[in-house]
Amino acid sequence: MKKIHVAASTKEYDVIIGEGLNYGALLKEVHAPCKLMVVSDDTVFSLHGEKTLQSLQDAGFETRTFVFEHGEKSKTLAVAEKLMIQMIEEEITKTDLLVALGGGVVGDLTGMVASVFLRGMNFVQFPTTLLAAVDSSVGGKTAVDLPNGKNMVGAFHQPLTVLCDTDKFKTLPEEIYAEGMAESIKYGIIYDAELFEKIEKNAISDEELVAACVQIKADIVAKDEFDRGPRHILNFGHTLGHAVETLSEYTIGHGQGVAIGMAALCAAKLPENEAKRVLHVLTDRKLPLKADFDIHDLAVQAKADKKRHGNLVRVVLPISIGEVELKDVNLTEWEEILKDGTDKVNSIM
Ligand SMILES: NC(=O)c1ccc[n+]([C@@H]2O[C@H](COP(=O)([O-])OP(=O)(O)OC[C@H]3O[C@@H](n4cnc5c(N)ncnc54)[C@H](O)[C@@H]3O)[C@@H](O)[C@H]2O)c1
Ligand SMILES: [Zn+2]
Repeated sequence: MKKIHVAASTKEYDVIIGEGLNYGALLKEVHAPCKLMVVSDDTVFSLHGEKTLQSLQDAGFETRTFVFEHGEKSKTLAVAEKLMIQMIEEEITKTDLLVALGGGVVGDLTGMVASVFLRGMNFVQFPTTLLAAVDSSVGGKTAVDLPNGKNMVGAFHQPLTVLCDTDKFKTLPEEIYAEGMAESIKYGIIYDAELFEKIEKNAISDEELVAACVQIKADIVAKDEFDRGPRHILNFGHTLGHAVETLSEYTIGHGQGVAIGMAALCAAKLPENEAKRVLHVLTDRKLPLKADFDIHDLAVQAKADKKRHGNLVRVVLPISIGEVELKDVNLTEWEEILKDGTDKVNSIM
């Protein structure tokens, strides 16, 4: 079992990572028994719900459940409202807890509700996807989508604790596990060459992988909880990734989009031997390197980026494996980088 401490300015908490965690016993260490509203999606709940509830009840917690249909299409204000109405019906109060049992969709929606219900209450994260474990469950960004924009409504709201049971990954479909691997490779490229090498050599357990990624996220969040500068490096691969997700109408997943984004930027900016290593590790983990969209159409999508200011888009460019820089570019420059990167991906592979 590994413990990573997150020292955000608004809340300090631990992320516990291990195989076969006892949720109830660990939660009791940070919060006295109370009423819990366990939020999950139908897929996760059918696989892991009963055992989770049992463990929480054994530790003295009183449980209620709210289960919604799996998938990004449920990350809406309408589902959040349904949850809040049920919370009132179940007489959940400010001193009770919300529990997010699931991937990033469950975590983002639950966190968003926790940030506003009764003007804010505590919640805990039990991530069940690799992506949620290494990324969305830590750092306090919560959100739901609007029909015309992803993650448009939300708040910064840190969890009370994150309990990550890596056993849960055993039921993940291969392509969903791979999406979390894309975010893990991202941490290696932006911050930690040694982590990249371990992933490359397939020489790291899930527990070590999550702990290494969470440690990096914790370091970055401690420096810049509210995403004003240093935290932007976590967006590596995401400007193009989001464009690919949008143009594919979300048939290409987030992690796959990020893989395509990282491939293009590494091919454009890294020395060829390092770019090759990145492309190989992505291919090895069954992640895509490119998508069949027009470069110009992809480039202009950056206009919708939340980190855009004026005509400039803030992008994250790799310098070497383990180091990146932030740069503000206009859309023409951005399109040139993407064109160069895509050409090089084709010639390298
Ligand atoms: N808050 C943040 O900082 C942050 C960061 C990155 C991504 N996100 C958000 O996270 C979401 C993507 O996360 P995700 O990929 O975890 O999505 P997800 O929650 O939709 O999970 C993906 C799929 O896996 C299934 N699943 C989850 N756990 C499972 C398990 N153990 N076994 C079998 N199936 C399981 C789910 O039912 C779902 O169908 C997006 O909405 C994205 O915007 C947020
Ligand atoms: Zn991401």
